[in-house]
Amino acid sequence: MNGVPQPAFYIFKCQQSAPPGMPKLSCVSQNNPESQQLFQHLSQALMMKGIIATVSPIQTGCLNRCQQGPVILVEPGHTMYTELTKEKIDRIIDEHIIGGNVVNEYVIADEMWGDAVPPSEMAR
Ligand code: FES
Repeated sequence: MNGVPQPAFYIFKCQQSAPPGMPKLSCVSQNNPESQQLFQHLSQALMMKGIIATVSPIQTGCLNRCQQGPVILVEPGHTMYTELTKEKIDRIIDEHIIGGNVVNEYVIADEMWGDAVPPSEMAR
């Protein structure tokens, strides 16, 4: 018996927006209208390509890489993409999500995305 299929990918889109007048950078900005449309663009692109059933776009809060925003995190693979635009999202969907090849030129720099610390090393 087959179960309900898991999604092949989850795409976490940071939707954090700093309040007006706050100097902190955020992935959704009052000063950048395109940044306010990226989650909708991502969802619509997945629908248009007929893959929304197996690729789940998820809205999240801050992913702690605000200086590089707008960002998304693709799982599995733990791949973070930075400084996103609609064009970059389209390319990530075509090349990474459908094609299976990470778009390296949009991936966060190594020094900003070091290896994770295993919880077993942090647990008290
Ligand atoms: S506001 Fe998006 S990573 Fe912090």
